[in-house]
Amino acid sequence: MVKRVELRMVAESDLDVFDAAFQSEAGASEYQWFGFTPTHGLRDALRTRALLAGPDNMLSVTVDGELVGRVEWLERRWGRRDTSLCWEIAIGILPEQRGRGIGKAAQYQLVSYLFTHTRVERIQATTDPENQAELACLKHVGFAHEGVVRRAQWRLGRWHDQMLFSILRSEFEADTRNPLREGIIGV
Ligand SMILES: CC(C)(COP(=O)(O)OP(=O)(O)OC[C@H]1O[C@@H](n2cnc3c(N)ncnc32)[C@H](O)[C@@H]1OP(=O)(O)O)[C@@H](O)C(=O)NCCC(=O)NCCS
Repeated sequence: MVKRVELRMVAESDLDVFDAAFQSEAGASEYQWFGFTPTHGLRDALRTRALLAGPDNMLSVTVDGELVGRVEWLERRWGRRDTSLCWEIAIGILPEQRGRGIGKAAQYQLVSYLFTHTRVERIQATTDPENQAELACLKHVGFAHEGVVRRAQWRLGRWHDQMLFSILRSEFEADTRNPLREGIIGV
């Protein structure tokens, strides 16, 4: 039976689910576990600006209405803000929902949303060179590999490189036959 991946605004109860799911190495995954992280800032940002229209933003990911994870986009600049702003995207799918095709569909939806509703030319993403699932997701969405940011993250007691990827507005618009366009997953 086909199921549809959609993005919606974050509800306060979603943050409880994310806290329970992602505040451990097993839940966050070895690639996203930086130790316990305070989330009061997220709750404040939810109350004051719905976690939107700021330098750090979030939407919830659902499959046929069921909460399955979250996507984020963060302000990044390669120079002055007015002339060099781009978004960096991030994602966390709930552990029990991984491997169903949701991660790639949700990141496609987010890139589409950001090119539709904001004027950026470039969207970037970074991931650990060993994060095979995220590497596959970015490839399916159409991201191009730009290089390696050396020793970018301290996690699990050592430094880790990050691979830098981007997709440009023109590249995304030209990719009219991407099977992720419909947001449908099979399982
Ligand atoms: C990375 C993540 C977003 C991927 O989402 P997902 O829903 O599990 O991924 P999908 O089911 O959409 O699979 C995408 C691709 O990855 C592949 N894949 C999934 N899990 C994999 C794994 N453990 N090892 C290797 N490949 C894997 C799938 O086969 C698929 O490729 P294919 O369509 O060519 O077969 C998810 O696993 C997650 O939230 N991980 C923890 C946080 C994280 O690493 N975030 C990314 C960095 S910000």
